[in-house]
Amino acid sequence: MMESSQYIFVDELSSIEEDEPREIYAGNKTIVVGKVDGKVYAVDGICTHAYAELANGDLDGHCLYCPLHFASFDIRDGTVIEGPTDQPLSTYEVIVKDDQVWINMKGASSC
Ligand code: FES
Repeated sequence: MMESSQYIFVDELSSIEEDEPREIYAGNKTIVVGKVDGKVYAVDGICTHAYAELANGDLDGHCLYCPLHFASFDIRDGTVIEGPTDQPLSTYEVIVKDDQVWINMKGASSC
């Protein structure tokens, strides 16, 4: 069993669909989780341009699109693919153990 204060349970790996960004709340953080080619990634869920919830946008392959002004980010590392923002998203370590997907809330990294 993983320590719940550091790790947030997302879902079973087989229950997470490709191209369907999912919003996760952890304390005061909003995180978006997405599955690309069978691997799950987690980044900050609020756009770095203005306030928009990225889980309401589209995930097309590794490109996560903001629903408000359509900035795009690489969900694999949080980098900006296309503006209007140039600020990347912080990323979170994703751990898969026994088909269960967890986010490590410690050590969120900005790229
Ligand atoms: S709020 Fe996301 S691009 Fe403007």
